[in-house]
Amino acid sequence: MSLKNKINSAKLPKHIAIIMDGNGRWAKQKGAERIYGHENGVKAVRDTVEAAAEIGIEYLTLYAFSTENWNRPKDEVVALMQLLVHTIHAETPTLNKNNIRLQAIGDLKSLPGNCYDELMEAMEATKNNTRTTLVLALSYSSRWEIIEAVKNIALKVEQKTILSSDISEDLFTSHLCTANMPEPELMIRTSGEHRISNFLLWQLAYAELYFTDKFWPDFTKDDFYEAIIDYQNRERRFGKTSEQLIS
Ligand code: FPP
Repeated sequence: MSLKNKINSAKLPKHIAIIMDGNGRWAKQKGAERIYGHENGVKAVRDTVEAAAEIGIEYLTLYAFSTENWNRPKDEVVALMQLLVHTIHAETPTLNKNNIRLQAIGDLKSLPGNCYDELMEAMEATKNNTRTTLVLALSYSSRWEIIEAVKNIALKVEQKTILSSDISEDLFTSHLCTANMPEPELMIRTSGEHRISNFLLWQLAYAELYFTDKFWPDFTKDDFYEAIIDYQNRERRFGKTSEQLIS
């Protein structure tokens, strides 16, 4: 039986988030420049998005560029931005053909103008698609997002549009970039690193974490399916006991 057929379609996570890591090390192993790793990472992005849509994952969030990534060598940042612009432009027709909606989270205004414009165009062009939502985390960090939410809530309290006693988990969640998305039930990280690295800290509170040693450019559809099967074999207790889950 193929891995895909082993997936229980009644127990699919609605939202999967991925830290795509290891592009640089993959390239280094091949004696190539880091950007060669990012270029090859695009194929893994394509395969993963296709796999997610095929099995009916509603939301797939990919950590494509963190706030901290701005500190990388200038050449790499410029090349990554160009790759993003090019990939988003080239893939929009395929997203539409496959009924996939593109959204983005992060400090999008800090992106170079052409990258921001390309992203907005692609989001607009795919906004009515309903099969899967692909969310790119760009210039994103969770602490940035949380501080933005706190500032916005504080402003509303100051302006008396809400009371401090109105602040709840739901209200806070509604001020995050992910406001209208379900929380990720599964987070995958490639490349053997076992960290969350400032990614969706609030939203991952109850997520199952899955780590693989593979570098991102080597990540395949089967690797994605394997992570989902692993997730489906876990018991999610949300603080309860196993016995409470059965009764
Ligand atoms: C992490 O590997 C990868 C990134 C920071 C960039 C990810 C970008 C892509 C896969 C290309 C385009 C993506 C989209 C969504 C169109 P790393 O550079 O941190 O690798 P290392 O840890 O081995 O140095």
